[in-house]
Amino acid sequence: MPERIPFNLPHLTGGEFDNIRKAIDLGQLAGGGHFTRACEELLEDRLGIAHVLMTCSGTAALELAMMLLDVGPGDEVILPSYTFVSTATAIVRTGATPRFVDIRPDTFNIDPDEVEKAVGPRTRAILPVHYAGVACDLDALGAIATPREIAIVEDAAHAVNAFLGDRALGGIGDLGCFSFHETKNYIAGEGGALCVNDPGLLDRARIIRDKGTNRYHFDQGVVDKYTWVDTGSSFAASDLVCAFLKAQLDEMQPLLEKRLEIHARYQEVMADLEREGLARLPRIPREARHNAHGFFLLLPDRATRDGLIDHLREANIGSAFHYVPLHSSPMGRKLGCQEAPLPVTDAVSERLLRMPMHYALTPADVDRVASEVGRFLRARGAGWVPLP
Ligand SMILES: Cc1ncc(COP(=O)(O)O)c(C=O)c1O
Repeated sequence: MPERIPFNLPHLTGGEFDNIRKAIDLGQLAGGGHFTRACEELLEDRLGIAHVLMTCSGTAALELAMMLLDVGPGDEVILPSYTFVSTATAIVRTGATPRFVDIRPDTFNIDPDEVEKAVGPRTRAILPVHYAGVACDLDALGAIATPREIAIVEDAAHAVNAFLGDRALGGIGDLGCFSFHETKNYIAGEGGALCVNDPGLLDRARIIRDKGTNRYHFDQGVVDKYTWVDTGSSFAASDLVCAFLKAQLDEMQPLLEKRLEIHARYQEVMADLEREGLARLPRIPREARHNAHGFFLLLPDRATRDGLIDHLREANIGSAFHYVPLHSSPMGRKLGCQEAPLPVTDAVSERLLRMPMHYALTPADVDRVASEVGRFLRARGAGWVPLP
């Protein structure tokens, strides 16, 4: 049996233990300590984002964003159905209604034309997801949102250190949400951050993150005792988690380059599959500087996709399909909020397969994956089926 190539492998830079020890020595283990601020400043400086607040997860950042915008019963928030559940639960838990719209057939990001059709008087926010770290068309979304005073909250969970032109994803909408979950490019086990791009929201974002108290202002000496001033929750990241993360963020650029190399090699060695009409490779718009969060294939149909998963498993190679559309999930059906069908979402969900992507992958590993994929698809010889 050839050596296993796992789908994902959490990567350690080597500095994590020293940082955690330093956090313990500093005696600041809760949120708001030395490493919290160090991570926030590093992300602000390197990515050119106005304000970054560390949170305990990407989910917490999304929930904080919805609370900060006072989204609530009677409101609607537009989002893709092809996303992780947290994008939707952040909306649903406020009492607002999620409006699921279809994705574009090229990037699998939210389709601005579909957003335009879904916008109405009750729309409070649009929540685009930068799938696999490839930028959504935020300019088209802005042209819909800005004149109607609708907020844009970027779900940039996949998109840390990815750009649209020279603007960092997460830093373009009113708010942006990062994830540092162990499956992401830079990891903390569980962790996240809220990018606050509208300075008018900053003070209240800190209060909501700190259980509705003005603790941050107390720590800064702005008030002489801290108290309950607003709604809130416990959204801060522990300084121990930020200590771990800081070691990863210190390697942000070399890690990006390594991932981009792996992505480019996949593109190169799998290009023939697309030429032969056996699979489609990721589409990256010219203005999107992606972060190689993932590499995936679009296959002709579900049976081919499922057969390829089995074939790769037998070849000791991990692979994974991705989101089950939220509009047709048990909870989506219970909410009953889907009016129009979402044909691209349904097709991509059935036909997409993600290839191994992590820092330990060697060029030889990528070549082996490509050769197994090619062997299976060529033997099957299925003809190409365009997306709806
Ligand atoms: C698109 C998207 N949004 C939000 C999240 C939630 O992030 P976290 O796991 O850090 O809570 C994830 C997944 O991890 C995600 O893939």
